[in-house]
Amino acid sequence: MDLRVGFVGVGGIARRHLENTRKRTDVAMVGYCDVALDRAERCAAEYGGPAYQHFTDLYDKEKPDVVVICTPPFAHGDIEEEAARRGIHFFVEKPVAISMETARRVEAAVASAGTATQVGYMFRLAESVKKARELLSRRSISMVQAHYYMPGLPSPAWWPKMALGGGQLVEQATHMLDLGRFLAGEVVSVTGCTARVRDWTPPAGYEPGSGLLKYSEGMEIPDTTALILQYESGALGTLSCSMVPQKAWDNGFKVVADGLLVTLTGAAARWTGDEEGEMSPGAEWAGYVLWELYDAVKAGTTATSVPYSQGVRSLAVSLAGYESVRRGGVPVRLE
Ligand SMILES: NC(=O)c1ccc[n+]([C@@H]2O[C@H](COP(=O)([O-])OP(=O)(O)OC[C@H]3O[C@@H](n4cnc5c(N)ncnc54)[C@H](O)[C@@H]3O)[C@@H](O)[C@H]2O)c1
Repeated sequence: MDLRVGFVGVGGIARRHLENTRKRTDVAMVGYCDVALDRAERCAAEYGGPAYQHFTDLYDKEKPDVVVICTPPFAHGDIEEEAARRGIHFFVEKPVAISMETARRVEAAVASAGTATQVGYMFRLAESVKKARELLSRRSISMVQAHYYMPGLPSPAWWPKMALGGGQLVEQATHMLDLGRFLAGEVVSVTGCTARVRDWTPPAGYEPGSGLLKYSEGMEIPDTTALILQYESGALGTLSCSMVPQKAWDNGFKVVADGLLVTLTGAAARWTGDEEGEMSPGAEWAGYVLWELYDAVKAGTTATSVPYSQGVRSLAVSLAGYESVRRGGVPVRLE
């Protein structure tokens, strides 16, 4: 029987998950929910099925087996908690929340329901990244150097607001903090420094256009951040991130291990030293993170690569970075 899948929050990134779901012949797309009802209606027209404005209507009327939740960072908590309470498995986009309180509340609901979950940290599913992890697992790691450079500010109105988007560390660079944990183990301490390097005030006559923004009225978040991380293993790490407009997206890692230097450029891996090689992530790699959850639910297992609890731990690293900044740049220890 087809898996019944519903969608909550059908803005920008949901498009990727809708399209990747459409590719599955064993999945039925049973409904779409968005507080902006016209967005849900557009999905209903395109993919088939009804549109809802409130997630409980989708849950009550369509009884999905799985929901794909792509709401903004501030709009998490009740949607996931209610899904777990009803025994609905869920996929949720990163970050899982903007506060540990919300994340822990949902984590407890999932643990008590025993449902399957997956967080949208898709890099972990790429074969190239798994290979990098396997190579590193056999060596002692000394340095985990990460960067995340975005050439401007994403257009959703919640992005430049700390209380809504959580800032770049929570919202975007979380990919690198999660991947650092995947490659090198748990982080025990974070020291942070942030800056607002640029004047984001729109000049007279500025037209935002499509794509990333160069200016924003009421920009609240830092545009440049540096972290120092200590890993449980004793390795050190750094994360550099910025959204100051320039030419290109650029994110990746250099990981120094005994005898090996591993470089990740996006999801492509290259390694040099006592072994040499390179691997690309494959054409469909960004879809695996969602398909794996569908496969797990169909197989009756909760075993997924990025269960909710992993998203909670990665959120804790981002928040520790901003906490360090609030405390004047002292190291903040993680539990
Ligand atoms: N994994 C990735 O590579 C990746 C890429 C882009 C975005 N994301 C993440 O996806 C999330 C959404 O980003 P986006 O760019 O699609 O944002 P968006 O603003 O374009 O879309 C979010 C949608 O959620 C809706 N929404 C808000 N509150 C809701 C609620 N309570 N119930 C139902 N719908 C609600 C909004 O109306 C909007 O349509 C963010 O957390 C972002 O970090 C992940």
